[in-house]
Amino acid sequence: MHLLLGQVLSFEANPFSHPATEAARHLSRGAILVEDGKITAVGEADGLRPQHPNVHVTDCGNHLLTAGFVDAHVHYPQTAIIASWGKRLIDWLNTYTFPEEARFGDTQYATEISERYLDLALANGTTTASSYCTIHPESVDAIFTAAAARNMRMIAGKTCMDRNAPDNLRDTPKSAYDDSKALVEKWHGKGRAGYAITPRFSPTSTPEQLEALGALWAEHPEVLMQTHLSEQLDEIEWVKELFPNSRDYLDTYEAFGLLGKGGLYGHAIHLTDREKDRLKEVDASLIHCPTSNTFIGSGLFDMAGLMAAGHRIGLATDTGGGSSFSMLRTMAAAYEVGQLRGTPLHASQLYWLATQGAAQALHLDHCIGNIAVGMEADIIALDLASTSAIEQRTRRAEDIWEALFATIMMGDDRAIHSVWVAGKPATKA
Ligand code: GUN
Ligand code: ZN
Repeated sequence: MHLLLGQVLSFEANPFSHPATEAARHLSRGAILVEDGKITAVGEADGLRPQHPNVHVTDCGNHLLTAGFVDAHVHYPQTAIIASWGKRLIDWLNTYTFPEEARFGDTQYATEISERYLDLALANGTTTASSYCTIHPESVDAIFTAAAARNMRMIAGKTCMDRNAPDNLRDTPKSAYDDSKALVEKWHGKGRAGYAITPRFSPTSTPEQLEALGALWAEHPEVLMQTHLSEQLDEIEWVKELFPNSRDYLDTYEAFGLLGKGGLYGHAIHLTDREKDRLKEVDASLIHCPTSNTFIGSGLFDMAGLMAAGHRIGLATDTGGGSSFSMLRTMAAAYEVGQLRGTPLHASQLYWLATQGAAQALHLDHCIGNIAVGMEADIIALDLASTSAIEQRTRRAEDIWEALFATIMMGDDRAIHSVWVAGKPATKA
């Protein structure tokens, strides 16, 4: 048993559908009781501490205790090529991404990058991610093994591609189905691992492959399915050429059983009304990747419009199309994209998107993404004065939201003072 003391931030409602500050609960001197990896009590320090006089106490002072960040869409194999210059999506994939991903058939390299990625994620306060791997089953084994060594809750899946990719990065409809099925059976529900069937995007899959993966999802509706949707205009034109009979981009998934609740659609920027309606109807998850969308020049996600329409939306770095491992930087980019659309997001909304919103998008909100009784104890302590620039701004702050907003806009891994994974301090494995 373990008691953490500090400021505490949790959410009691969605700050997009409730007044932003009322949806959150802030304790300026709070306490979180952790037992066997779970949160068993949350309250005022003055109330909780005397009830547990003999427990081990970690006093985080004025640091802000919150849920660990949940990154709803990353490509861990792109860790080493993050921040590669000057290309847009298709050229960027061909120039930087595919040559790097070709290396992941080598278990040793896949393991090295898995460990590097997870250590960077934890250093940035991210305790759960949903990652694409490469076409190699070894790349899936590597990330789940490294996550298990850190006891991290992790979603991942073998990326499937059987066309429009180099020879050494192509599988087939049958091998994609067989390998993915074997990996679902090997990893899904093992410890904190969860599987996502992962067709990269419809340009790199034949209709036969999409159909095979749709069939696999129908056989395993308990797993997630992740892919990309309507990221760049050129890409959408290409999809039209490749699938002349499809009504739109979403239809290339829908026609093959790859649209549903539990489907995670990365980017989802340039959507038609029909696509929005269908995504809403099935309660699919849209994943906003703002640093990627500005870095690769994709466009401005309509957070306000899609939230108002009731979509399920999570936030993500999209490392390495995204230019950062930090969900703080990602929240800042979401704020900036909102400003460019005339709809600035409140700090409460930004923080919710990076924790509970992303957990809801991954259908993991019953166990992670909030500080509440029964949640797994994936917790971070944020230093709200981590640099002199932030400290001098925070000193002027009149409430927690002003203070937190300075760290959202200017913070990085220096703001992540401590990280607990399932109640234990995170350490490099
Ligand atoms: N679309 C298909 N593959 C990718 C990828 O690796 N990154 C991004 N940002 N978009 C994609
Ligand atoms: Zn992506």
